[in-house]
Amino acid sequence: MKVLLFLVAAIAVVYGQAPQPCIAPKLWEARMSRIDPSKRFFERARISYDAINQRVRVIEEVNIKEQRDFFDVLYLHQVGKEYRYNLKTKECEVKQLAEQFRPFEVPANATNFGESYIGTSAFPADGVLITLWGGEFRGGRYMATFTNSGCVPVEDGFCTERIGCVHTSFYDVVAGISDPDVFIPPKACE
Ligand SMILES: *[C@@H]1O[C@H](CO)[C@@H](O)[C@H](O)[C@H]1NC(C)=O
Repeated sequence: MKVLLFLVAAIAVVYGQAPQPCIAPKLWEARMSRIDPSKRFFERARISYDAINQRVRVIEEVNIKEQRDFFDVLYLHQVGKEYRYNLKTKECEVKQLAEQFRPFEVPANATNFGESYIGTSAFPADGVLITLWGGEFRGGRYMATFTNSGCVPVEDGFCTERIGCVHTSFYDVVAGISDPDVFIPPKACE
């Protein structure tokens, strides 16, 4: 009987409908925390994200007790420019963007790795059902999680030869861009 039940379960898994990649929102703002191997630390920042025009602004939150530099970075992928404003020295560096825009969304050919609760499913307000997706992209591999019902990005991890592995978590995601000027380069960068 047990063997039979197991077989029925296994067949249900094999023939169950594979979840389709969900469509992530294209304009949003959030807080994020990121482990970046090049800096070897954990940073917190505010992010404004526009996948339509391929623009991203990341403003690191300043902890004045630390001596290291903090940045306010605008990535304009359509013109291939990065404006890196140092919040400590007040200097701006304008660079050619080396990386292609990699959207926080589920690629059409992503592999589904199932669903899980962040936190717990035991109490209604203490858990969020997420879906895991992963695969390859030009130059590397990724694994990312999105909320099950709204396809809101929760975590993003990718590794490439050139950069190493970067892991980002998103919180407090709000739809839309509150200030459109956030995608205009800071004055110090002109
Ligand atoms: C999916 O597409 C990308 C290019 O868009 C490709 O590099 C990758 O190998 C494909 N397959 C998987 C499993 O991710």
